[in-house]
Parts: sequence; structure tokens; C-alpha cells
Amino acid sequence: MSSNIRRIGVLTGGGDCPGLNAVIRAVAKDAMHHGIEVYGIYDGFLGLIEDHVEKLTYEAVSGILTQGGTILGSSNKANPQSYYTGKNPDGTPRFEDVTDRCVECCKKHGLDAIIPIGGDGTMAAAAPMVEKGVNCIGVPKTIDNDLWGTELTFGFNTAVQIATDAIDRIQTTAASHHRAMVVEVMGRNAGWIALYAGVASASDVILIPEQPFQIEKVCETVTRRSRDGRGFTVICCAEGAAPKGGQRVVERHDPTSPDPIRLGGIGRWLSGEIENRTKVESRYTILGHVQRGGTPTARDRILATLFGDHAMELLKEGKSGRLVAWQCGRLTDVPLLESAGKQRLVTPDNPLLAAARSVGTDFGD
Ligand code: F6P
Repeated sequence: MSSNIRRIGVLTGGGDCPGLNAVIRAVAKDAMHHGIEVYGIYDGFLGLIEDHVEKLTYEAVSGILTQGGTILGSSNKANPQSYYTGKNPDGTPRFEDVTDRCVECCKKHGLDAIIPIGGDGTMAAAAPMVEKGVNCIGVPKTIDNDLWGTELTFGFNTAVQIATDAIDRIQTTAASHHRAMVVEVMGRNAGWIALYAGVASASDVILIPEQPFQIEKVCETVTRRSRDGRGFTVICCAEGAAPKGGQRVVERHDPTSPDPIRLGGIGRWLSGEIENRTKVESRYTILGHVQRGGTPTARDRILATLFGDHAMELLKEGKSGRLVAWQCGRLTDVPLLESAGKQRLVTPDNPLLAAARSVGTDFGD
């Protein structure tokens, strides 16, 4: 089936990540080369809710491949199905379904299709619009690499590289001072960044949310390494990791956000526990948003370009309601409605877990 797409809208939703501009560029240049007009929807779905939609020129999408962030802006507070519109008389936050407003905005600007680039929250926000008949092809992004339906998201490789470079530096100062150094990395409920950066940096301990850890085991490793002459321990800890029977550490709770929990702080807790229990001096580093900033790696630029190109191919074939995906080493696509709001976590059979254990990495379990 061939399509009658003449004008499309592009938006970037959720937390930003390196490679967003590479997708925007790929989508927009491909579209423009085929005579399709491209409109930028600003700040994620907020652009449709508040009607901030503007035509993109070829110049606007040129020279942006290497730039971090997103030229369209982003927001992780604007889910049309559950949009914060103020407080109820009793002081509780009020949320309204403004999906119809978004559909109307698409019609007003004559958008034949939209391309939301985002993670599970963005796809969950796009799903009701698909159900209301808006042509939509999703492109998966997130440094967390946790989107269901795809084995890879762009931004992940860059985040892993940044975290690995940082831990490499932590290794030398840890050795100089014979300390236990905890490095907290992002990833929300998934341990992909911690697992990959931890293995790549030869961290002695890796803690991921999917495998609750025993603090006693972590301390045993610190004590053993302190005694056996190596004298220092590097611990790569996911922000979502938690001790067995304990809770994740929440940095803040924003009741006005559709994604109200902000994780963070397990590194500080862990470092304190290690020092108290083992008497080995400990420090912690929370890498935070540095993992999301700056220029994408070559690998993410390529993945983002492939994803953008595939999204346009799907649209040109007349498809809708699909999410671009990477599976078994090739580009493919899956139903967007099936992937919306679902996460892909590290499973016990992941070969990298076994490989890490083989070289002596401790998972605290
Ligand atoms: O999903 C990407 C991510 O960076 C997570 O790893 C992290 O938990 C979260 O976003 C932080 O979000 P915010 O942009 O609200 O600080």
C-alpha cells in the first residue's frame, strides 16, 4: 500500500538522550527529499497540547547530527491522557485527558502522520492517539535501553561509554587511596547501563535492580580485596538497585508528573554502609545527567540514522501504529500499542551476567 503522506510532525518526548537530533535529521531530510513537509512539535506532547508546532526548514535540520540534546525540546511531564491541569479543591493534583486536543492540533496543522521519538512513557502517550486514528510511527530512544520490543535504543551506547570513561578514572583514584568507590549510574528500573559500563570498566562489584543485593556480600568483597593486597574496590551501582528486602532510594517524588518517581541516592547509602561495616574508607560519585549530555557516539549516530530512515520507510509504505525496533541484528518494527508503557529488563540468562561472573565480578547475591 502506498501512502498519501504530504506533511508530518516530529516530536521528542521524555528525558533527552544523545542521538535525538540524528533521528530528527534523518526523518526530516528523507521526508523533504520526497517532497513531504516536516513540522516540529515542540517540547514533546506539550507542543500538541499547547499548539506549539512550526514548519522545519532544511537548514534547521542540517549540521545537527553531532549535537546532543534535541532541537525540538522535550518534556516528561506531558502525557495527554493524564495531563496535570492544577489542583483539586482538596489540594490533590488534577489530571485531565487532553488526547482530543492533541488530535485536533494535528488536524489544524494538516499533519498526515506524527513521528514520536521517545521511550516507554512517550509510546504510552502516543497509544491513545493511534487508537483515535492518528497515523503514527514511533522511534525508540532512551539511555536506559529498557524499551520493550527492541533490543537496542540509541543513546544507550553513548551513556555506557560516558559511564565507562568515568569509572576508568575512578579506578586510578580508588587505587591511590585504597578506598571503596561507589559509582551510581542511571537506568531507572533497568540495570543495562550498570551491567555494560560495569563490565567494560572491570568494576569489582556490579549492582542492578533486577538482582537485589546483600550488603553483607558486598562488604565481604570490599574486605577481602582490602586484605589481599589489591586494597581497593570499585562498585558500579544502578540507581534502581536495592538491598534484598529493602527499598529503592527515591531522590524526589513529583505528584504532578505522569512519571512521579525520580530515583537516586543508593550510591551515598551504600558508601556509608560499606565504610561503617568494613572500616575501609569509601567515597561515592553520582554520574547523573552527564550520561545523557553531549555528542552521541558514532554507533548511536548510525543507529539513530537507521531508525529515522526506517520510520520514513514505514510511513511511505502506508503503515501506522508501528514502533521501529532492532532485533537479532537487524531493523524491524513491532506494534506500538503492544510496546507502550512496557519495560525490558535484564534477565538472569543474559550472557553478560555469566561472563562477568566468570571473571570474578561480584553481584552481591
Ligand atoms: O530515562 C532516562 C533517565 O535519565 C533515567 O535513567 C533517569 O532515572 C531519569 O531519566 C531521570 O529523569 P529526569 O530527566 O526527570 O531527571
